[in-house]
Amino acid sequence: MSEREIKILAIESSCDETAAAVVVNGRDVRSNVISSQIALHTLYGGVVPEIASRKHIEKINQVIAQALADAETSLNDIDAVGVTCGPGLVGALLVGVAEAKAISFAKNIPLVGVHHIEGHISANYIENRELEPPFLCLVVSGGHTHLVKVLDYGVYEVLGKTRDDAAGEAFDKVARAIGLGYPGGPKIEKAAEKGNPHAVEFPRSKIADSPYDFSFSGLKSAVLNYLNGCKMKGIPIVQADVAASFQKAVTDVLIGNAMRAVEEYGIEKFAIAGGVASNGTLREGMRRACEEKGVAFYHPSPILCTDNAAMIGAAAYYDFIAGKRAGLDLNAVPNLKLGENL
Ligand code: KG4
Ligand code: ZN
Repeated sequence: MSEREIKILAIESSCDETAAAVVVNGRDVRSNVISSQIALHTLYGGVVPEIASRKHIEKINQVIAQALADAETSLNDIDAVGVTCGPGLVGALLVGVAEAKAISFAKNIPLVGVHHIEGHISANYIENRELEPPFLCLVVSGGHTHLVKVLDYGVYEVLGKTRDDAAGEAFDKVARAIGLGYPGGPKIEKAAEKGNPHAVEFPRSKIADSPYDFSFSGLKSAVLNYLNGCKMKGIPIVQADVAASFQKAVTDVLIGNAMRAVEEYGIEKFAIAGGVASNGTLREGMRRACEEKGVAFYHPSPILCTDNAAMIGAAAYYDFIAGKRAGLDLNAVPNLKLGENL
């Protein structure tokens, strides 16, 4: 007997991407539309929350209409609406949440509130049809660095997270400091291609009492100190070498902590997710480390690593079939914790 099709319209607006997607049964992406505000925020060297909210308002209807058209469907054929309700920028989140509530009310279809990190993790289900929990996932984005045990669909145990800056945030701050601008991740990766990763030995921070937690602010300060030192001594800065050495330090820490957990918990499947997971050096390093340990390695395509709504549709599906529903009182929660009841 064929499985009934559950067609979800998913909406994501937590930061600087206005996105909508149509996803069937959690893994079949019928459309995935992303309107990026990167060019706009580049003018200011980072995301300006107020501008992000306004741009979401301008774009959201357009993006949804495009997602429905690309999927050759209409709101009359949608079974549920899934929307990111946190964490993220409150004004940005509110635009998606209000839109999703309006559609849910007007079409009398269920509403599902999705945790943004749960979305990133679920991006792995889309191109890896065979992937099922349990697995370990490292979520590395602009706002988060979480090492998460995915015990079952929608059931998570956070093993570790950053104590200060997120990995993506460190990329962005260091990129700004060495004059590469915003967004830092892709620019550092590009610059690093021509650099020597062993040119500068930046510190690899460890948290003594918590082997799975991360800290990147010390690394960021070390880069700033190095730049200041060069300036004072009149030594020219080789941008590519600093980028490559910084990238190596971040990826060494991410790979080290993740592999420690893989060993300690006897993990058989490991996945990465989030914007930083599109970084080629990190992907290659993780692939090699997993291969050495005989662990299956999963990662989404770069376009599904950075913010998108297809991943929200994947997560919303598993919440939907588990019977989770949000009411019309669903609100944006900027600091929503993973696993927290909505
Ligand atoms: O997941 P995402 O799109 O948004 C958040 O949920 O934060 O991640 C954005 C972050 C930014 O900090 C960006 O610099 C970083 O991901 N990023 C990268 C790369 N592409 C994006 N970091 C390293 N290498 C990349 N190729
Ligand atoms: Zn994200």
